[in-house]
Amino acid sequence: MKTGALVQARMGATRLPGKVLMELGKEPVLQHVVKRVSRSKLVDEVLVATTIEPGDLPVVGWCAAQSVRVYCGSEEDVLDRFYHTARLAGLDVIVRITADCPFIDPEVIDLVITRFIEGDFDYVNNCGNESWPDGLDVEVFSFKSLEKAWKSADLLSEREHVTPFIYNNPSLFKLDVVDHEPSLKGMRWTLDQEEDFTFISLVYNELMKSGDDSFGMKEVLQLLAEQPQLQEINGSIVRNEGYLKSLQKDTMGEKKQTGQELYRKAKKVIPGGTQLLSKRPEMFLPEQWPAYYASAQGCEVQDLDGNVFQDLSYMGVGACILGYADPDVNRAVKNAVDKGSMTTLNVPEEYELAELLVGLHPWSDMVRYTRTGGEAAAVAVRIARAATGRGKILFCGYHGWHDWYLAANLSDDSALDGHLLPGLSPTGVPRHLLDSAYPFNYNDVNGFLQLVDSYKGDVAAVVMEPIRNFDPEPGFFKKVRQVCSDLGIVLIVDEVSAGFRQTIGGAHLLLDFDPDIAVFAKGISNGFPMAAVLGRQSVMAAAQDSFISSTYWTERIGPVAALATINKIIENNVPQHLMEIGRKVQNGWRQMGKVNGVDLEVGGIPPLAHFSFSGFSDPLACKTLFTQEMLDRGYLATTACYSSLAHTEGVVDNYLTAADEVFSCIVEAEQHGNIQSLLKGPVCHGGFKRLS
Ligand SMILES: Cc1ncc(COP(=O)(O)O)c(C=O)c1O
Repeated sequence: MKTGALVQARMGATRLPGKVLMELGKEPVLQHVVKRVSRSKLVDEVLVATTIEPGDLPVVGWCAAQSVRVYCGSEEDVLDRFYHTARLAGLDVIVRITADCPFIDPEVIDLVITRFIEGDFDYVNNCGNESWPDGLDVEVFSFKSLEKAWKSADLLSEREHVTPFIYNNPSLFKLDVVDHEPSLKGMRWTLDQEEDFTFISLVYNELMKSGDDSFGMKEVLQLLAEQPQLQEINGSIVRNEGYLKSLQKDTMGEKKQTGQELYRKAKKVIPGGTQLLSKRPEMFLPEQWPAYYASAQGCEVQDLDGNVFQDLSYMGVGACILGYADPDVNRAVKNAVDKGSMTTLNVPEEYELAELLVGLHPWSDMVRYTRTGGEAAAVAVRIARAATGRGKILFCGYHGWHDWYLAANLSDDSALDGHLLPGLSPTGVPRHLLDSAYPFNYNDVNGFLQLVDSYKGDVAAVVMEPIRNFDPEPGFFKKVRQVCSDLGIVLIVDEVSAGFRQTIGGAHLLLDFDPDIAVFAKGISNGFPMAAVLGRQSVMAAAQDSFISSTYWTERIGPVAALATINKIIENNVPQHLMEIGRKVQNGWRQMGKVNGVDLEVGGIPPLAHFSFSGFSDPLACKTLFTQEMLDRGYLATTACYSSLAHTEGVVDNYLTAADEVFSCIVEAEQHGNIQSLLKGPVCHGGFKRLS
């Protein structure tokens, strides 16, 4: 069994560039680290893992001069760099050391290795509970674990920081932490900033008075006990609280706001700033929300300033059921792009997708496509009107921005309140659509029957979300179905948000009723524009009597993405995962309320979970504070959480720990009546509002 220590070293540190080759005494920091690690009794070889960037050539040069084996790999994908170094060196056990630890102690290294071997663990560290001085960090793991992480890790942070995939997946790896007792939390011996270097140099010079550089942790502790003032030099620097936190800060703690600057400019050339109300920064954290992203992977999003956040909020407003940039869907889409995404002829995948959707919904026979949910709902309504020759629509839930829907607010601006988005303005919708669409409430059989009774001969369709906030009352859908059948009304179920999250296909499959039309969008194509209107032949045939036609409904990316997404959903039983993750989040929120003595209102189907600050004096201010504090901890978070395949149990555990901490602060602030004073900017918007 070969045990190798890999010292991770590069020149390009943000806060202290070139720190690894700074002279400490007469030797570069890296030399101290390598020398100290070599004194470990259980390490067979010390190697350096650096990058292929030209800026890191001095590291390579130093290694060559000292006959230390060095491997150059990716700057960003450090997991890949480690994997290849370990593989080429033939290591069975890897000891990860970072080159900013010039006081690393060989005895501590051996202690962690011994625990790893004796406990037959896959991974052991001594930094998980921060009980050792910062700067004595050791991680030990098997090559097998490294290889598993290398093959499976998708998140940017998992690739950038080598071991998060391992320690965030306790169900896959046998993990342990070696603690120091009593805890030495708060001691800072790492080299990250100028003050650290001053501290390290002074300690080093003191201890070198003996002429022996083999001092270890014990000697440093003894010196600090004698000269405690030394610790004041860098004692005010907060320990780097993990990779997310560190990435969130720009050089020396200044936070950049490139996204907000861009958003301010965008509002001058784009009315409303964005194309979707739910993506307006004002809906989350006015003046502070990152607003734009540079890249995304799994459930991680990198903003324009390089900050990485875990998204535990809307996951592309529900569009990315598998996680961002899913490799399988992306591969299929790239292939479609290469083969030509648009020609004079049609794409055969339209047929393949129709067969798949009809097969999953045995009551249906035919499919038409659009590219957005609102369009698909509008097409369904048009087909229903064409099929029945009637005009009026009864509906429940949110169905998009189109005239047929907003017409409900012509008589009363608040008619749509309670149907997802309050305050939607019907300005621009022709007045003569007045009295064409009427809302009713979910589970309100009597309200529904009254509407039907008033307009029965004129009703073309009943449009409903199958489920969103709570379960249907027993018999609710049976009644709706029966009334529609009796009166020749087309029953349209809008699965844009609910579909493919609780089961493979529409949520109505679980609710035991067959609609006449079902409309799908977000859940079916993982962020690529695609929507489907699925229906019975008897109703869908009317699509030919009306003119329903659009150029971009014929392109290739949408159906290809939908096929890849749905097939992956089936292969991985994604709905089961979404339900489990969603339940875990909901239970975590309930627990967070309980611990803080608050009866928290938690709702939504588990994959589209939400909670509310309704019992608090200023719910919107609390919501804003929650988002503000979670952002500071590396999360995109609000009072809702949409699950995706990319959300693991570990991700949720860490999120809940952060959410719990923030929630406690909010409860305390509520008790002291100072929520507003903790806000760094304005309170978020609660619904539609014209922006200045
Ligand atoms: C149930 C439902 N229908 C329709 C829509 C509109 O979809 P889109 O925003 O793609 O137009 C949405 C969007 O959230 C929705 O949740």
